[in-house]
Amino acid sequence: MSSCRNTGVRQGLRLAAAVLASLAAAAAVAQTAYPGVGRAATPSELKAWDIDVRPDFKGLPKGSGTVAKGQDVWEGKCASCHGIFGESNEVFSPLVGGTTANDVKTGRVARLTDPGFPGRTTLMKVATVSTLWDYIHRAMPWNAPKSLSTEEVYSVTAYLLNMGGILPDNFVLSDATMAEAQKRLPNRNGMTTQHGLWPGKGMGNGGKPDVQAVACMKDCVAEPKVASFLPDFARNNQGNLAEQQRIVGPQRGADTTKPAPADAAAAAATVTAAAATPRAAPAAAANPLALAAKYTCTACHGVENKIVGPGFKEIAAKYAGRADAEAYLAGKIKSGGQGLWGPIPMPPQTLPDADAKILAAWLAAGAKK
Ligand code: HEC
Ligand code: HEC
Repeated sequence: MSSCRNTGVRQGLRLAAAVLASLAAAAAVAQTAYPGVGRAATPSELKAWDIDVRPDFKGLPKGSGTVAKGQDVWEGKCASCHGIFGESNEVFSPLVGGTTANDVKTGRVARLTDPGFPGRTTLMKVATVSTLWDYIHRAMPWNAPKSLSTEEVYSVTAYLLNMGGILPDNFVLSDATMAEAQKRLPNRNGMTTQHGLWPGKGMGNGGKPDVQAVACMKDCVAEPKVASFLPDFARNNQGNLAEQQRIVGPQRGADTTKPAPADAAAAAATVTAAAATPRAAPAAAANPLALAAKYTCTACHGVENKIVGPGFKEIAAKYAGRADAEAYLAGKIKSGGQGLWGPIPMPPQTLPDADAKILAAWLAAGAKK
């Protein structure tokens, strides 16, 4: 009896070993199917990309954050663009406002159906708290996406919901309490798939898409060419797009101060070359513009033109006659400030004094390229 069982175990082990060996072989084949082209992504590379958080909270990392800590994060890293109470419409439409205690009970935001109510805030529209968490985690703050710690994301999400009257002051938002927050989200019952963008029964057509395309088999019109491009006259309307890109992912804006490359191949070559060039090149220390990109000043300042803050040339012109311009500007870069150029504040910037000085000297000397 017992020897029989041992044989079974041994056979099982041998089988397992064989399966493992064939799996290893399959992995090896996967690695070498296209010799010399690419390589399999490493587990940590996958982990860095695979950050989505789903409505069932799959993907949500363990952690927590308080409303009180969220207030610090908000005031330090978000309020400059979204307003102290999330009410600002200077940089984006307001995040907070328009929801009521009754909406928290019903899960439907009454004002969404009130044509007299101006605007639609984020908290009026969002139906899944996971979306809020995920978006903040991947995309905010706008000038430094993916820079928040897990605790900061939980905290600042809690604070946003607290400002909207959805979570109480003492709420601790965590992977364990997200479901509780979801149950209080004002528009949680507002999501519908009953429309033409979804394979539901939308638009009374029994679940069929609301476009009808029939494949053409003969005498067809020529394939239309769909491409996006900047017409020459508008090319530099918004200032240099290459300077206004956030440093995330491989996309880079075209250098719109130069004419468009002659053809698409040249355009592709430029884009590839730009993508292959790291933003803060080794020469950054000597090049103020590269420094401004490295510290993401250029997310808010164009060289010529205003974005969120004034253009660098505008700043240079304003302080051109001032004897202590360099020292003054170095101080302002570190401290930030508000009210000299408009209502949007500039948050204090974290960078070494030596780099603040290089930027200030460049501004004081006219912000030349
Ligand atoms: C430099 C300005 C800036 C800062 C700082 C900033 N944001 Fe934003 N935020 C934006 C812009 C611009 C958008 C719209 C982006 C888009 O639609 O591509 C946005 C969008 C959002 C949205 C999505 C709103 C919606 O309805 O789609 C949320 C939520 C948000 N921000 C939260 C935050 C939080 C939390 C912080 C701080 C950690 C923060 N933001 C810091 C500029 C900023
Ligand atoms: C989140 C957006 C944002 C970022 C990032 C940012 N700024 Fe600003 N900056 C502003 C705004 C808004 C103002 C206008 C403030 C005011 O009205 O007083 C401003 C003003 C300034 C001024 C003029 C101050 C004065 O007293 O007139 C200087 C100089 C400046 N920024 C430099 C920088 C540099 C250098 C960096 C990067 C290290 C930077 N800024 C990053 C938004 C930003």
